Amino acid sequence: MPKVTWMFEDGGEVFADVKDGLSLMDAAVHNGVRGVIGECGGGLMCATCHVYVDPAFAHLTGEASAMESDLLDMTEVPRRPESRLSCQLVASEVLDGLVLRVPSA
Ligand code: FES
Repeated sequence: MPKVTWMFEDGGEVFADVKDGLSLMDAAVHNGVRGVIGECGGGLMCATCHVYVDPAFAHLTGEASAMESDLLDMTEVPRRPESRLSCQLVASEVLDGLVLRVPSA
């Protein structure tokens, strides 16, 4: 059960122990992370689950698929190299300590 931290630009943070196999969008919604909405329920149709992965973890979260990458081009807040859609990130022990930054609109 990895520990995940969501950080906000105003300095706020949310910490959670996330069940293995749960998407990090679902985990964010369940833990009241503001700014992560998950409107399409993880169907790769909304981009309301946009986060910035801490660069230290980028090699563990892998690359966005072509479909995810296309959607990342349409996010409300501009895409960065570390942008991912958190519905496509799945909790596992290798991600223990993961830090995700939530973009501010
Ligand atoms: S929840 Fe809609 S794209 Fe991730």
